[in-house]
Amino acid sequence: MSSNPLMRTQDLQKTYVTETIETPALRGVSMELHTGEFTAVAGPSGSGKSTLLHLLGGLDRPTSGEIFLQGAPMSGLGKDRLARLRLTSIGFVFQAYNLIPVLTVLENTAFVLELQGVVRREREERARAILAELGIEQYADQYPSRISGGEQQRVAIARAVVSTPSIVLADEPTANLDTATSLDLIDLMRGLNERKGATFFFATHDTRLLDRVRRLITLVDGRIAGDRTQSGQQ
Ligand SMILES: Nc1ncnc2c1ncn2[C@@H]1O[C@H](COP(=O)(O)OP(=O)(O)OP(=O)(O)O)[C@@H](O)[C@H]1O
Ligand SMILES: [Mg+2]
Repeated sequence: MSSNPLMRTQDLQKTYVTETIETPALRGVSMELHTGEFTAVAGPSGSGKSTLLHLLGGLDRPTSGEIFLQGAPMSGLGKDRLARLRLTSIGFVFQAYNLIPVLTVLENTAFVLELQGVVRREREERARAILAELGIEQYADQYPSRISGGEQQRVAIARAVVSTPSIVLADEPTANLDTATSLDLIDLMRGLNERKGATFFFATHDTRLLDRVRRLITLVDGRIAGDRTQSGQQ
């Protein structure tokens, strides 16, 4: 791909330091992500997948190296600018859904728009539209505890994409789901990628999902051990 990358990492390193131990989690990761990609990062437990997602999402800072978002170094951003960036440019989906229990499905979905200052009517319209797109509009007025894990994770995806971020980062989004529900969820993400051009980068160690992704990056011991674009995928 020749276009400018959406995100680029340059020799990204992260070492966690506690009182007694230093753990190198990333040992020099350089890669590019482009708009419109549908990419999984796989690798054994402890290989650094979550660490990489946290750094890309501005939830944590690297020990050394740099992340460029649309060409601009993220290290140059102060706390407030970084928070703003997370709000406007990055969607997150976590393993444990992380829905707010006291808000309905519709309110959960519209929450980021509320933080962005979108007026109520518009945010409800946009939230309803994305819930419909994902086939869960019938749960709009339910609380998360009343719907299944697979449905909750659909809501988490709706919430992540409703504000049309530049990229959606997902950490093991299918970890708590059975096989059929996991495959459905990946197909749903893939559908958003194909129809709306939503860019996804997600961590998984579920090998059943890997033939559904277009690009597969493999991490081993904090380094990229493989990066291939799969034939047969669009
Ligand atoms: N907050 C932390 N403090 C100290 N060490 C950490 C922290 N987070 C991760 N680590 C360590 O960094 C390494 C990479 O962890 P990371 O969570 O990024 O791996 P992962 O590939 O996501 O693993 P999994 O597949 O189990 O989710 C591991 O050795 C882990 O123990
Ligand atoms: Mg992890």
